[in-house]
Amino acid sequence: MSDSPPARIGIVTVSDRASRGEYEDLGGPAIQSWLSSVLMSPWEAVPRVIPDERRVLESTLAALCDEEGCCLVVTTGGTGPAPRDVTPEATEAVCEKLLPGFGEQMRAISLRHVPTAILSRQTAGIRGSTLIVNLPGKPSAISECLDAVFPAIPYCLDLIEGPYLETDPERLMAFRPAHALRKR
Ligand code: MTE
Repeated sequence: MSDSPPARIGIVTVSDRASRGEYEDLGGPAIQSWLSSVLMSPWEAVPRVIPDERRVLESTLAALCDEEGCCLVVTTGGTGPAPRDVTPEATEAVCEKLLPGFGEQMRAISLRHVPTAILSRQTAGIRGSTLIVNLPGKPSAISECLDAVFPAIPYCLDLIEGPYLETDPERLMAFRPAHALRKR
């Protein structure tokens, strides 16, 4: 058994209407249940529901990384072309390094389901020792996209000196090069 503290994972729902209580946040809980079904390492969610305001988004992302100690922050919403969709801009603004492969992979997978996936501008990046990943806003797209990109996330966290995350191999096989595998 590991005696390290639970990995903290920020889950940010970016939606004007959900943040005003006009509809129930379905995206945040969908991310939480996907992570619960896949992660075997101890972890805890740090949830936030915020409006599509770039300054609020940037300060929320920065606080989850720098003050809350999250190793991973996942967002849902605000990645489309509408005027108030600013999640990718806020993500890029707070990250030191971008990882465009995440968005490329999610769009490639989503395009198999729906042609409007081409409208998604989602991206990912590194701030300090935190990985930030944008997911689409549609709750049903969340598990498709997490299934597609999560296999690379545990090794990414190793590389940025985050916690060693283990997944349930029957549910999702995380990929690590042989030299990075830890014996249990
Ligand atoms: N990806 C999947 N898998 N399924 C979808 O229905 N909707 C797309 C796209 N990606 C969609 C998807 C549409 S219509 C848009 S506008 C953007 O994601 C919306 O991103 P947002 O909801 O994060 O603003």
